[in-house]
Parts: sequence; C-alpha cells; structure tokens
Amino acid sequence: MKTIFSGIQPSGIPTIGNYIGAMKQFVQLQDDYQCYFCIVDEHAITVPQDRLKLREQILQLAALYIAVGIDPKKATIFIQSEVSAHAEAAWIVQCNIPLGELERMTQFKDKSQKTGRTSVNAGLLTYPPLMVADIILYNSNLVPVGEDQKQHLELTRDFVDRFNSRYGTPKQPILVSPEVKIAKKDSGGRVMSLQEPTKKMSKSDTNRKGFISMLDEPDVIRKKIKSAVTDSSGIIEYDPDNKPGISNLLVIYSAMSDLPISDITAKYHDSGYAEFKADLAEVVVNKLEPIQTHYKELLVSDELQTILDDGAIDAQKVADRTLQKMRNAVGLGRKPKR
Ligand code: AQP
Repeated sequence: MKTIFSGIQPSGIPTIGNYIGAMKQFVQLQDDYQCYFCIVDEHAITVPQDRLKLREQILQLAALYIAVGIDPKKATIFIQSEVSAHAEAAWIVQCNIPLGELERMTQFKDKSQKTGRTSVNAGLLTYPPLMVADIILYNSNLVPVGEDQKQHLELTRDFVDRFNSRYGTPKQPILVSPEVKIAKKDSGGRVMSLQEPTKKMSKSDTNRKGFISMLDEPDVIRKKIKSAVTDSSGIIEYDPDNKPGISNLLVIYSAMSDLPISDITAKYHDSGYAEFKADLAEVVVNKLEPIQTHYKELLVSDELQTILDDGAIDAQKVADRTLQKMRNAVGLGRKPKR
C-alpha cells in the first residue's frame, strides 16, 4: 500500500478552503493508502500564537479531522510536536538546502514583505525544511495539498534527489520522493476569500467576513455568503479571470454538493445572484451541520485523547526508522549497535 502524509496548521479554526482543498481529499484517500494526517503545531508557531489558544486549536483540529470523516482505524492522526523526529530531521534537511532556495519561497516573501524582513521570525524562512522532514519521515508517496503548497512540494522533491545522490546510490536511494496531489482550481485547489476573491481564503485572515470557518453558526454562514463580493453582471457563470467572485462561489457550491459546475450553472441559468447565494448558504449549512454535531461530541470525549496518544506512538515508530537512516547517511552520532 502506498503512503500519504499531509498536515494542517492549528493556526485558527480550519476554513471551508482547508476542507475543500485538503481535508475532503484526506477522507477520500484513506481507503486506498496508508495515511498519516498531522496537526502541524510546530509550523503554527512560525508566527506569534497565544499559547492557550494554540493548545485549544490543536484539539479542535484533531476533533475536526475525525468529524469530517477521517477514521482513526484507517489513518494515523497525530500532533507533530509529539513526534520528536520531525524537529530532528528538519535540522538535517536545513543543513542540506541552499539558503537561496528558501529565500525564493513565495510564502516567506509574501509574509516577510507584509511585516518587514527584519521583524519576522527565522522560523518563517526555515519552516519549509520542517515540511520536507514531515513528508520524508513517513516515506510518503503522495501528498494531497491545496495549490498554495505546490512550491514546498517541489522543494521536497529537489531535496530528496540531492540527498539521495549525495549520500545514497542510484540502486539504494535513502529517501522516497513524493508525488504531489493538488485538486484542480475548479474543484477547490484554491478557494478564494469571499471579500477579496483574487486572494486565497485563509483561516488567519483578519477580515472574518473573508472566510467561512468549519465551526461557523448557520446564520453567520448565511450572512457571510450574502455579503460575498461578486460583480454587477448578474450572470451565474464560471469565468475565474473575469468574474472571480461568482466563480469562487460556484467552486464552493460544487465541492460542498458534489455536483459539477456545469450542472449548477444550468440550474441557475435564469436566476439572480441573491437566489443563488441563498441556496449556496443552505448547501454549506447542510454540509457543515452534521460535522459540527459530531465535532462537539468528540471534543469532550476521552476517545480523542486516546486516538492522539496512539497516533503519536505509531507515527514515532515509522519516523524514527527514517531519521536513523538520515543520521547514518550524514554520519551523526556513533555507529548504531547491531
Ligand atoms: N483557500 C484554500 N483553498 C484550498 N486549499 C487550501 N488550503 C489552505 N487554504 C486553502 C490547504 O489546506 C491545507 C492546510 O493548510 P495549512 O493550515 O497548513 O496552511 P495554509 O495553506 O497557510 O492555510 P491557511 O488557512 O491559509 O492558514 P494560515 O492563515 O494560518 O496561513 C494545505 O494543504 C493547504 O494547501
């Protein structure tokens, strides 16, 4: 069975963008792959976090993973910082990646431009190597992510090639090179902000109207969709270059209802934006309500703690084996005893 790794940062409550671009794919893939789904809390601290809120968000994300349909009997669910191999492997990765490659990462450039290069934490520059470590530790064959993560996956593949050619042999590569699995734009690989439809929907957006959180109340969802930015043409069609707002709403409708966009545009051929938005709100509410009910039960259950305890033990076993191979390759520590 091939292996999948993916993770989400507990940097806020996941949005429907995280759900459509990542979590929904996780659920679909768990039957056919050995899956490791991680709560990447070490990534979340690259920007300042409130420690109590972070702890709360870690558990909330874990509960949401299960509430959306990830089955802990099929997939390993765990918290990154509870598996120490991630931080250790990330150091070896950092020592084998040229600085220039990290400075070219779009997320570093964007975030450091917003706040000023000298005031951002070094972790913002060096977290892509941590992400490389996350992936390689599980010998991942496939990484399902949203489009924004494509560059990091390319970095991972380049790193694996370099590491294998530097320390391994063509017949005996040390690390596995992962394939990237990104949903197409029209099926939610990049869900956009409801207020600025040319910008990605993000859970840490300071404008709360820009995103729908997985835990938003029905009336909040209705209000946010009603006030979503569209255009003045009033025609419901998929044209992301010229009509990014309505095209984004069509993508959300399609992903939440599992109907193709062409069926939706045909259905609303003679309707206006108000009717379409009202129906979309109900589609989203109906999708999220059962998830939210299950989530509330899980959050207070002992079951969640056990799942995370077991997940960390399972993950550590696999991760330690790869870490040991990396340590041997670069010559760290003493030769392991046979
Ligand atoms: N808008 C999006 N559309 C589709 N996929 C998305 N993802 C994130 N936003 C969208 C995918 O969700 C997974 C988890 O992302 P993450 O939390 O690790 O980091 P991120 O990409 O930085 O997500 P956010 O919501 O934008 O978080 P903040 O605001 O904290 O930076 C990834 O697979 C990602 O592609």
